[in-house]
Amino acid sequence: MPDIASEVLRRRTFAIISHPDAGKTTLTEKLLFFSGAIQMAGTVKGKKGGKFATSDWMEIEKQRGISVASSVMQFDYREHVVNLLDTPGHQDFSEDTYRVLTAVDSALMVIDAAKGVEEQTIKLLNVCRMRHTPIVTFMNKYDREVRDSLELLDEVESVLKIRCAPVTWPVGMGKTFRGVYHILLDQVILFRAGQGPLDDVEIIDGIDNPRLDELFPLEIENTRMELELVRGASHPFVLEEFLAGTLTPVFFGSAINNFGVREILDALVDWAPAPAPRDATVRSVAPQEEKFSAFVFKIQANMDPKHRDRIAFMRVCSGEFTRGMKFKHLRLNRDIAANSVVTFMAQGREQVEEAYAGDIIGVPNHGNIQIGDSFSEGEALAFTGIPYFAPELFRIVRIKNPLKLKQLQKGLQQLGEEGAVQVFKPLNGSDLILGAVGVLQFEVVASRLLNEYGVEAIFESTSTYTARWVSCDDAKKLADFEKNLGNNLARDAADSLAYLATSRVNLELTQERWPDIVFHATREHA
Ligand code: G4P
Repeated sequence: MPDIASEVLRRRTFAIISHPDAGKTTLTEKLLFFSGAIQMAGTVKGKKGGKFATSDWMEIEKQRGISVASSVMQFDYREHVVNLLDTPGHQDFSEDTYRVLTAVDSALMVIDAAKGVEEQTIKLLNVCRMRHTPIVTFMNKYDREVRDSLELLDEVESVLKIRCAPVTWPVGMGKTFRGVYHILLDQVILFRAGQGPLDDVEIIDGIDNPRLDELFPLEIENTRMELELVRGASHPFVLEEFLAGTLTPVFFGSAINNFGVREILDALVDWAPAPAPRDATVRSVAPQEEKFSAFVFKIQANMDPKHRDRIAFMRVCSGEFTRGMKFKHLRLNRDIAANSVVTFMAQGREQVEEAYAGDIIGVPNHGNIQIGDSFSEGEALAFTGIPYFAPELFRIVRIKNPLKLKQLQKGLQQLGEEGAVQVFKPLNGSDLILGAVGVLQFEVVASRLLNEYGVEAIFESTSTYTARWVSCDDAKKLADFEKNLGNNLARDAADSLAYLATSRVNLELTQERWPDIVFHATREHA
């Protein structure tokens, strides 16, 4: 029987994050390629090439060439089990992305070195910072003319507020990209385009090795000078600071050329944390505990149009999952016979035989599982920290054919539970109001309502400016608030009460007038 503690120790679960076009998909593919999980490049990527990727399930993704769904891939590397969670890069899906970040223990940040720190990266890093997630940084596209490397580090430090510890350093760039110098090992790894996982890399020991001056005198001289500055301007790598999320090891390379990829995988395995204890309402749950527990961070419908199923993605938090075992859906107090639980390998889904803390498993279901739900072998544990974010965009939904009202309600209920959009039912009136973080979410909802529920919906603008979930320790005061402001109040898919403000001023005035009511910009699953 496998020993749970050692299985936990060899797990690494990380998300890959970046601004769109920085090279996340390319790097994901190369990581899988390096680990041997896929044989040839091209399995993950395929957005623009006509061959669709493992992660691009939905029609809208095909049309737009964006990855809406976050996908999960597991592979082995150096005696470790690595779970890689992709995050939708498009800014309109940031809410989903944020929740993926609650299911990982570390993150790999990809930066396009020609562009530097971009907007979406800033937002994602804010979430990582809140959770003290350790970050590994990859500066990509050194086969092109990129920005000055020191300037890039400076930008990461000042904009993302995280200290940089370069572990490798580029030798040249663009046409004269020669390789990287590994600062900790004092080795120069020579650049070769399209290097395979089994290919020998050419390594030259010592930054002062005269062989380097023979090969590329100009670039190496320049690198030596830069390294002097780097020593003064950056920070040495300190494992504890990385684990605390205050310092990021920085690597340089070119994903498309497989260059620099091995070093990242090694860093993740050597330095990134194994699964840690997770907070639940009653206590903290340690990963090596014997009993199984997990929480749902994402639900996705109809991943495979042939099956028309909904998959709840769960992160295992403790114990051992074995095929056929039973576990409890705590919110509904109902057993789940997990015969059809799946795992996600690079090549597709497979039945899970066993899973441990850090692993992501998928449970097909018919709509009774919600984001944030916890599962255990019986103990009443509710994992905390899986947020819903207050939407920033609102629309009223109307339907062309009133006879389809039932289908509309069912569709929105399910899409709301999935987290594809937030659905608010005003206390007064019969309209349904949709809330989203990005405008593309509405398009996804419209397209899915039509394709999956046969409902043609029209979205109209509303006077709602923002939403805040409300709570109050004093039930009488809350009832009073409800009575007075009924026209601005609504319940969401989880039946939580929300105040729909018509403007920032309106929100501020209401907060001033009702000092006992607490207004929340995020809602955690109850
Ligand atoms: P994303 O998932 O972060 O959005 O980025 P993706 O991997 O799709 O990469 C965005 C573009 O950057 C792609 O080019 C990709 O080929 C290119 N790219 C990725 N890594 C590197 C690199 O190391 N060097 C260079 N020079 N380019 C890189 P595209 O033209 O948009 O797509 P495609 O036509 O190549 O598929």
